[in-house]
Amino acid sequence: MMELEKIQNTAIIGCGVMGFGIAVVILNKGYNVVVVEKDKPSLERGLEYIKKFYEGTVKRGKITKEKADENLFRLKGTTDFKDIPENSIVIEAVYEDIAVKQDVISKVEEVVEEDTPIFTNTSSIPVIEISAKMRFPERFLGFHFFNPPPVMKLIEIIPSLKTDERYIKFAIDFAKKLDKDPVVSKDTPAFIGNALLIPFILEAVSMYEKGISTPEDIDKACKLGLGQPMGPFELADFMGLDIVLQIADNVFERTRDPRFSAPAKLRELVSAGFLGRKVGRGFYDYQKPKPFGVEL
Ligand code: CAA
Repeated sequence: MMELEKIQNTAIIGCGVMGFGIAVVILNKGYNVVVVEKDKPSLERGLEYIKKFYEGTVKRGKITKEKADENLFRLKGTTDFKDIPENSIVIEAVYEDIAVKQDVISKVEEVVEEDTPIFTNTSSIPVIEISAKMRFPERFLGFHFFNPPPVMKLIEIIPSLKTDERYIKFAIDFAKKLDKDPVVSKDTPAFIGNALLIPFILEAVSMYEKGISTPEDIDKACKLGLGQPMGPFELADFMGLDIVLQIADNVFERTRDPRFSAPAKLRELVSAGFLGRKVGRGFYDYQKPKPFGVEL
């Protein structure tokens, strides 16, 4: 198995909201990052946002221009899995759909060494299910960042029934190298964070549906009364309503747990394409879309 200290390269599959943030976290720690996207337009969009994000942090005086340029120098984008360098750690951060995840992971397995650690940023699908078609599932586990990855300190580490102990230790050490604080969770749908958060958001939407209060006042209650940085509607818009619904449906499908049964209002907004901040409208109206949830 590869030694963590000798690894310089990471590959991130998918450069959407999470892949983008994960790339920033890893670049900031001095690694080379290759971002793999499905097509040229998605790749260009992802890379552009990473560049713009660094421009913003330079403008706000958070890092120097030299440091930002040095980070960007270590970033490469590709649509070809063969460009994943030897001795990489691979993190899959594509759409929360098991078929899509299995497809990209099989493409990764075709090009990397047998002992390359392959991690998934799944937020709700059991890791063992994603790994069902893998040739070497013992090197696979959940490595779940929270949004926005550059800010949130937590990483959930989720070994499957087949994960080798050495990879769990490797993942914990890697999370700490990224300056994150890892927790280990059993491989159950939605793990720890989302198993608590999603029923909370769904309950807030039900309260709104029942006319108990408005999104504005429910958010205010949670911020001013419960000390949360964002209320459930702001947070759902920030995460993406499609993501919230997808997590709820993924868990409900597997458990039939009524706490994960999505209220009609949420499904209606998603069907209307009102997916939250990234498109400029969700529970709230925004002036303009913020594609990665960030004001750049
Ligand atoms: N990406 C990267 N960085 C971001 C960011 C984003 N989307 N949004 C904010 N930041 C950074 C800003 O650049 C800023 O950094 P600097 O201090 O270096 O300039 C810092 O965060 C603070 O930002 P702001 O001052 O603009 O805003 P804020 O103080 O109101 O904090 C927040 C913003 C961190 C998002 C805060 O509102 C918060 O903590 N919200 C709750 C987030 C949360 O609960 N996340 C979990 C979601 S659930 C999940 O992720 C699970 C899943 O599987 C989907």
